[in-house]
Formats: sequence, structure tokens, C-alpha cells
Amino acid sequence: MLKNHRNIYNPFPTIVHSILFEEVEDLNKDLFKFVKDLTFSDEVKDAATSGDYFLSTEGASQPDVDIAEKYYGEVDCITKFVDEIMLPASEGWAEHHFMELTGKPTPRTGHFNFTSWATYYTPGSWQTPHIHREKMFTGVYFVKMPDEKKSLTNGAHCTSTVQYQPPEMQNEGAFVIQNPHMQSTQPLVGGWITQQEMMPKEGELIIIPSWLSHYPKPFSSGERCVIVFDAQYNINK
Ligand SMILES: [Fe+2]
Repeated sequence: MLKNHRNIYNPFPTIVHSILFEEVEDLNKDLFKFVKDLTFSDEVKDAATSGDYFLSTEGASQPDVDIAEKYYGEVDCITKFVDEIMLPASEGWAEHHFMELTGKPTPRTGHFNFTSWATYYTPGSWQTPHIHREKMFTGVYFVKMPDEKKSLTNGAHCTSTVQYQPPEMQNEGAFVIQNPHMQSTQPLVGGWITQQEMMPKEGELIIIPSWLSHYPKPFSSGERCVIVFDAQYNINK
């Protein structure tokens, strides 16, 4: 795995890992070019507009292909992404998750089943809040972030510490996770926050449980590109 910094957050509470990878500028450039070429290729359908799916995507493009499955071993940047980012980071999340929930390490008999895709966003595009059904965890790797990120906090005092955001924080292009238990937000002082905005950096991977509602906000300039994967963990196969 590439040298990286992993932060573990427990908003609401749940288990959220943010892993910031180092020295991935060239890899991100290659991934961005690859995803854009795929997005504008006549040979690959756009799952966001083809009518075959009911996606939460609003205005963004999503090539209808499992990119890790199809291009692993064929395209260098995808192979590197899988080997050095997706797999080791997933193992790290699962290890922590199993230990936190069961007090035991990840079962050694099992394996992950992944599905993966990429999404390309232009200004104004976003996704409605959604979950990923019947999966264990979801990773979002930020290949490209918008140029300009306006913040509409009306001057509220914010820190980068995610636990202390004002509830109405509105950052362009933020990745938002939502508290599924509204009762837990009471009382206002001492309760859990209602939602958590994160402003990922290029080269950052955020892993959340798949049942957690989330969405990316729209932005006004630049481009945004993510590679997303869902994982199931099969214990006996
Ligand atoms: Fe999603």
C-alpha cells in the first residue's frame, strides 16, 4: 500500500474511515483521463441516463462497467488502484469494523466481493441522498475535486475537525453523510449531529457502511471524478 494517513471518525456513531494517500498525483491524472475517456466513449453506455437503472445521479455520468473487474490487469492505473488502494484500505476498514463489533479480527476464511464504477461530474451535477443496498461497505476515492469550493457558512466558526460543524454548513462539492437516527440528535447540546459534511482531498478514500445515507453536493466550476466500490464480505466461500 502507498504511504498514507488514516483517520477514523465515529459520527452518529458509526465507523467512517478517511484515508489520504500520498504521492498519487500521477496515478490520479491517469485515472482521471481513463474515466473521462470511458465517459465519452461511444462503446460504453452511460448508466446514469440509459434508463436501465434507477440511479440517484443527477446530471453526472457513470460509465456502465465494473471498472475494477473489467480493467484489472489490463489498464495500469486501475491495477495500481485495486492493488494499492482499494484492497488494502478495505482490509483495514474490515479489520477495524470486525474488531469494533465482535472483538475479533476479520474471519480468515472469507473474502470480499467487490463491484466498482466511476462517476464524472460537471458543474451543477450531484446525487440525491441514497444508500447502497445489500452491501457491507462503500468506498469513494476522490480522483479529482472541483477547482473552487465556495463555503456558505455565513461566517460561522468552523474547524476542520468533523465533530464540530454547524448543522447548516454548506460547502460546494462536499460529501455528506446523514444521521439515520434523528432521535439521537436530541438534545441539541450533547446529542449527535444531524449530518456530517466532508470536503475530501484528491487522493482521499472515504469508507462508510453501505447502509449510511450519503450524497455529493453540486459545485459551480471545474470537474469532479470519483471511483466508487461496494463490498460484501462472504465468510464461507
Ligand atoms: Fe453512493
